[in-house]
Amino acid sequence: MEFLAAYDTIPQSDAARRVALLRERMKADGPAVLRELRAARPVFATPAGVFVTRMTDVVEVLSTPDVFTVGVYGPLLEEALHGPFMLARDGADLHWHDRAHAQLMLPARDFLPVRRITARLADDALDRAIASARATGRETFDYIQEFSAPVAARVAQEYLGFTGVAEEDLHLLSQRVQRAVFVNPDRDPEVHAAGVAAGKELHELMAEVIRRRVAALSADPGHDVPDDVLTRMLRTVLPPGADRPMDEERINHQLVGYLIGYQQNATQCAATALKELAIRPEELARAERSAAADDTTAFDGYVWEALRFHPFVPSTPRLCVREHVLAAGTPRETRLAPGTVVHAHLASAMFDETVVEDPYAFRPDRTPVHNLVLGHGAHACVGRYPARAILPEMVRRVLLRPGVRPLPGAERALDYGDTPYPQHYTVTADTGAPS
Ligand code: HEM
Repeated sequence: MEFLAAYDTIPQSDAARRVALLRERMKADGPAVLRELRAARPVFATPAGVFVTRMTDVVEVLSTPDVFTVGVYGPLLEEALHGPFMLARDGADLHWHDRAHAQLMLPARDFLPVRRITARLADDALDRAIASARATGRETFDYIQEFSAPVAARVAQEYLGFTGVAEEDLHLLSQRVQRAVFVNPDRDPEVHAAGVAAGKELHELMAEVIRRRVAALSADPGHDVPDDVLTRMLRTVLPPGADRPMDEERINHQLVGYLIGYQQNATQCAATALKELAIRPEELARAERSAAADDTTAFDGYVWEALRFHPFVPSTPRLCVREHVLAAGTPRETRLAPGTVVHAHLASAMFDETVVEDPYAFRPDRTPVHNLVLGHGAHACVGRYPARAILPEMVRRVLLRPGVRPLPGAERALDYGDTPYPQHYTVTADTGAPS
């Protein structure tokens, strides 16, 4: 039975069964459910919140932060980070200020240096994974455990400044925080407690890194300190009158917050982009040819288009804090009351056939305007410049090795291991021809 027909047979009073069916169908075939909703009920009120599925309406929600706030997860995020953070707040005060600081700390000019760092670390991880497979008589390796997670963590060490923090800690602790804040819809107390404890551990690890760095900077202000985002933050003097000084504690919150915004995203996107290419052999072949070009613009289009089919953040919740008429003047116009949870469905918006031309076709040269993989509006990814370097380059280094590919016949086989995140993905370990 089509989703809405099945949903409507459940009495409105049976909220639990309606929510269970919604979750079950979204898990089984989310794209089909969303396609039906966009056509028949584009603003879909459920007991678990209002699902907003069309591009224009998603953009409206995410661009109106004085009505639609991050209050759904903001308090949880700050509890886990043990302090304030931009993705937990809205408005002129902290969000505006800290986002401005982040834009200065993660500038567009980092694109090429970060790309070079990623290329080196990715090549090194591929060499290690292949060597380890050979040494142990395996013909495959685990793309997530041996490639995407460690490369993402090593970029965090070298570029962001998590110097000396073990890569397993960066990956596993940030995963616990992510899960507790963003993927714990029933507020499982164990998941929550693990996230809060992991956030504290990250904060303490970062405090130690900052202490060491401050000492190194004062002992030898000119030399011998890593040229990374942490050093940049410690050296930056904000203009007089800036609302809040960026002291060591606040620098710590910024950097741990960045890590939460980055590590799982990069790890998963590097895997889902490869999967989406591998299940389309003709596109994969074109992407492989494109990967060899010095100008990476065309190649990057393959990665962002692949991620449109499987983004890390399919939907982001917002809390409606004052009455608002969504999609005013259209047939789907909906009055929303304060207190309503609204799900801005990015994954659906990117397939909105009323806006995106031939949305189910794979087109690497689409306009970036229709790609919401890095979010949209007031809280759109502030790490977009490094993100635009790291993700495509991780995938590119893999495609430059013809012997490293998802196992034939198992291209879709991301293994989530009972977690919300892919944990394993098997790829072949032939050496091929390194670039
Ligand atoms: C690697 C791939 C990345 C992906 C796919 C990604 C994705 C996203 C998305 C979808 C959002 C919006 C969340 C929402 O609206 O609820 C976001 C926000 C954010 N991202 Fe990223 N991100 C990536 C990398 C990074 C990096 C490298 C950094 C920092 C170094 C970063 C820092 C942030 C921060 C701080 C926010 C919140 C901005 C705000 O509240 O104004 N992200 N990201």
